[in-house]
Amino acid sequence: MTDGQRRYGPLGTTLVIIPTYNEAENIKPIVSRVRAAVPEAHVLVADDNSPDGTGKLADELAAEDEQVHVLHRKGKEGLGAAYLAGFRWGIDNGYGVLVEMDADGSHQPEELPRLLTALKGADLVLGSRWVPGGRTVNWPKYRQFISRGGSTYSRLVLDLPLRDITGGYRAFRAETLQGLGLDEVASQGYCFQVDLARRAVQAGYHVVEVPITFVEREHGDSKMSRDIVVEALWRVTAWGVGSRLDKLRGR
Ligand code: GDD
Ligand code: MN
Repeated sequence: MTDGQRRYGPLGTTLVIIPTYNEAENIKPIVSRVRAAVPEAHVLVADDNSPDGTGKLADELAAEDEQVHVLHRKGKEGLGAAYLAGFRWGIDNGYGVLVEMDADGSHQPEELPRLLTALKGADLVLGSRWVPGGRTVNWPKYRQFISRGGSTYSRLVLDLPLRDITGGYRAFRAETLQGLGLDEVASQGYCFQVDLARRAVQAGYHVVEVPITFVEREHGDSKMSRDIVVEALWRVTAWGVGSRLDKLRGR
């Protein structure tokens, strides 16, 4: 599918989905930055019943701003489950563009207009740290190593023409999400991002990477864990083996 031959429909209203688990110090600043950077966009906070009261702070924001919404979930079920619930809510409520954004300021709302502009000629836009012009600020060396390594491994094993496959700053057209088979997505942690990227490429969607500056959080803690890395490794490997077997069988 070459870009020049495709016509893309109008974008529709944007919903920025922000998953949260213990982001009390970050939630108010990030929501106000989104509201200032893209005033027409709505925000959905998908909170997993954070013990630090993030969900209550989000309710306060929603009470004073009709473009802010909150999805309260029972407990910590991972980034993937929170996004799936957020996507469903957004599609059911008629949004045309669904954006993924971390709560901690790593994904700068001020860069969102560039992602949305690129989406006018694409089905999915990935904010990318690992294309020319992309970079990270204050991100520890070991995290850069895991991120670059994870993207390289995924690119080679899954045969994807993408540089930042694990990143979490993305803009989807609603129709794109509807074509990804979200009901079958089982990924819980950050490999959810790899899963969606691979599904989009396999479905023939036009995926564009836009350089971003990823800024390490100043408040709170990352939820990255050994379990999340292990889940990503075994799932990516299993997907790669599966698709090679399919090819051998001529499917
Ligand atoms: N609701 C919910 N439930 N939110 C969660 C959960 C969960 O189980 N786990 C993490 N989050 C939220 C965090 O509160 C934050 O808003 C966002 O998801 C990202 O989590 P971080 O813990 O800040 O991620 P990171 O900085 O270590 O990882 C970044 O890099 C990864 C690898 O490139 C993010 O950009 C990830 O999206 C990315 O996959
Ligand atoms: Mn983070």
